[in-house]
Amino acid sequence: MGDAPQHLTAGGYLDRYETAAERDPLQGLGLLAGWLRAEWRSLFAELRARRPILRTPAFTLVTRFPDVAEVLQNGDVFTVSGYASRLEPAVGGPVMLTRDGTSLNWREKGLMQVMLPPEDVPRVRALVARTADRALDAAVPRGRIDAVGELFRPVCTTVCAEYFGLSGPDPGTLARWSRAIMTDATANLVDDPAIHAASLAAGRQMMDHLRGELDGRRAEGTAAPGGDVFARLLRTVLPDELAWDDDRITINVAGLLLGFLENGVGSMTHLVRQLLLRPEVLRTAVLAASDRDTAEFDRHVWEALRFDPFLKVIIRVCAREYVLAAGTPRETLVPAGTPVLAAVASAMFDETAVPEPDRFRTDRPPHPGWHFGHGPHACVGVHPGAAVISEAVRRLVLRPGLRLLDPPEGAVVRDRDVFPDRFWLGLGDGEG
Ligand code: HEM
Repeated sequence: MGDAPQHLTAGGYLDRYETAAERDPLQGLGLLAGWLRAEWRSLFAELRARRPILRTPAFTLVTRFPDVAEVLQNGDVFTVSGYASRLEPAVGGPVMLTRDGTSLNWREKGLMQVMLPPEDVPRVRALVARTADRALDAAVPRGRIDAVGELFRPVCTTVCAEYFGLSGPDPGTLARWSRAIMTDATANLVDDPAIHAASLAAGRQMMDHLRGELDGRRAEGTAAPGGDVFARLLRTVLPDELAWDDDRITINVAGLLLGFLENGVGSMTHLVRQLLLRPEVLRTAVLAASDRDTAEFDRHVWEALRFDPFLKVIIRVCAREYVLAAGTPRETLVPAGTPVLAAVASAMFDETAVPEPDRFRTDRPPHPGWHFGHGPHACVGVHPGAAVISEAVRRLVLRPGLRLLDPPEGAVVRDRDVFPDRFWLGLGDGEG
């Protein structure tokens, strides 16, 4: 199938980084941060070849498949403690993503897997199909759609409302809470106190709202069988010694929103752009999208996301001094207490693990394992989460005349941070 449009151009990153870092470490880090955003594929390609584990004064960047796997699988050494100071104050208590190897993580992860089973996928797909088709029907006469604001966000907030049971006062407020908290948790690299304060304020409002919702549901008697995930949690009775109470329920419902919304919207935006950049791939994707069995279409989706994953690195903190890739030429000492960036986006281009990584191939073994994390913190929402992404994109590509618009109007716009705000696409045969 068609080769990828490339942005593998510049090269010489390591030399430029080291020259700058020698003069001023901050300048070197600034360069790296810029390349990680805009030139990640060529930066990672060079690092995999020349410095697969790059130690900087601020973090260690890990780029080869086996080493990224070693970091993500080894939860005792590479911990998630970095998330705790941001997420826990926002939701008012521990959440599974901030707790390594604790019984809270073990229990609640197991319980939430039960609450989000693969059997829900047909129901979630049907909900997404209805919502997406409504949005697309409204947009077709205009010959264009803002895929972020008019399709992906409404689809995701509808899933939150109707499947999770979390509608918020209105979809816009729900999305604002999620955005404020996730910006602080994942994108506040410079520790901006205003971003943290905005997250705390959003978290307070969200948790107050959830407690009110929980009380209201209890007063009415919990929802009937077959209801939303919130209702399932309210019907769950666990022994007292397992410390499962109303606070644990509201925090886990909040986790549904926080784990899902921005990841879902961001992933759909990135992968649709990759599909539309490749006319031959788009043609076979459209053919597969008409098939009742979605397996072949899903392979297009995950392969497209591989070419621009929304989450390029997963961050861990190295709890104790550790030799990574021990016994290989890549062997590197990672100091205790320092951040480690496990570059999943790079691992998925490592030719020792992914044959012909620069070609768009739909005959690969499944990739969601990497798009949805790996190891002890792998995503609990993978089944419904993957279904939402695939079905929303499927409904979109089935619309005739779907195409990228020329920049600047067709660019993915991010107003403030890493999360997409607008992505205008042409539809139908009009000028768009
Ligand atoms: C139903 C929707 C979703 C829910 C409820 C959800 C929830 C979660 C939760 C609670 C975790 C932490 C698990 C743990 O610590 O053990 C997690 C991890 C993760 N999720 Fe999801 N998620 C959803 C959808 C998605 C989507 C759409 C993506 C991106 C394509 C995604 C990517 C990830 C990744 C990469 C991790 C690993 C994070 C890490 O290791 O630091 N999730 N998810």
